[in-house]
Amino acid sequence: MKKILVIGATGQIGTELVPELRKKYGKENVVATGHKKKPDEEFKNSGPFEFLEATDKRAVEKMVEAHGIDTIYHLASILSAAGEKNPQAAYFVNNTALYNVLEIAREKKLERIMVPSSIAVFGPETPRNNTPNETVLKPTTMYGISKVHGELLGNYYFHKFGVDMRGVRYPGIISNVAPPGGGTTDYAVDIFYYAVRGEPYTCFLKPDSTLPMMYMPDALKAIMQLADADVKKLKHHTDFNLAAFSFSPAELAAAIQEELPGFKIEYKPDFRQAIADSWPRSIDDSCAREEWGWKPDYDLKGMVKDMIEKLSARLK
Ligand code: SER
Repeated sequence: MKKILVIGATGQIGTELVPELRKKYGKENVVATGHKKKPDEEFKNSGPFEFLEATDKRAVEKMVEAHGIDTIYHLASILSAAGEKNPQAAYFVNNTALYNVLEIAREKKLERIMVPSSIAVFGPETPRNNTPNETVLKPTTMYGISKVHGELLGNYYFHKFGVDMRGVRYPGIISNVAPPGGGTTDYAVDIFYYAVRGEPYTCFLKPDSTLPMMYMPDALKAIMQLADADVKKLKHHTDFNLAAFSFSPAELAAAIQEELPGFKIEYKPDFRQAIADSWPRSIDDSCAREEWGWKPDYDLKGMVKDMIEKLSARLK
């Protein structure tokens, strides 16, 4: 029987991943944990929830022991833009929490550790179009550096100790339940709230700043599918490129205007532009497709339609 601990469960991904995991494995078998941020009542009542300081190894260990955990989804992380405002905190939280989880997995022989990586592992020297899985990893953000560190550490733990850590390099994730916290791709979520409320949006990236993106249902499908993959078929473990579609702010605005013709956007690029400029425009995800059958369901149009439908119903 799988017993899953989700660390960082109240963030953008965790808020939607926890219900999916509970549907699949049973609500009592998925322990959601968060730090500081209080979950809403519905989330809290949907199954076990505990507060957890992810950088406190003993606290994580106790949680694993108390609930008989065999699998951890480790989602707690300080994203790219927030990390540039406080690189010391990003270094500490992102590296320490992951190291603790890996050590606990090694000591307690846990079955599996799922840890998202990101397009932030790439940097200005990486080829920007159709970026291959194996390429230059010289990121210029603390978040990116911690993600490269995490990927390498996870691969090391797999080969050295048999710890089965797996992860995908997520592009920007678009969703409509919990907001993303402090990323460079956050504009692609914020814009929908403005559009649906009938307000103009000021974008912090330039109109032609193309980045790889993905809709949340595909992001959830990817991590759960990789968790189930046969380890014998995996040549990669912690560092799968993953793609769905790419767009620029101007292209996203045009797609929104097809649904909401009155929508208006203006552009005031800030410090996040330099981060976006250091990341790929599009991603080659053939390793994920070949090794565990990855295929996204949503394209740009399908995502925009669904986002507007869901948010219009909620923001009424
Ligand atoms: N969405 C993330 C960010 O912008 C990338 O992983 O930081």
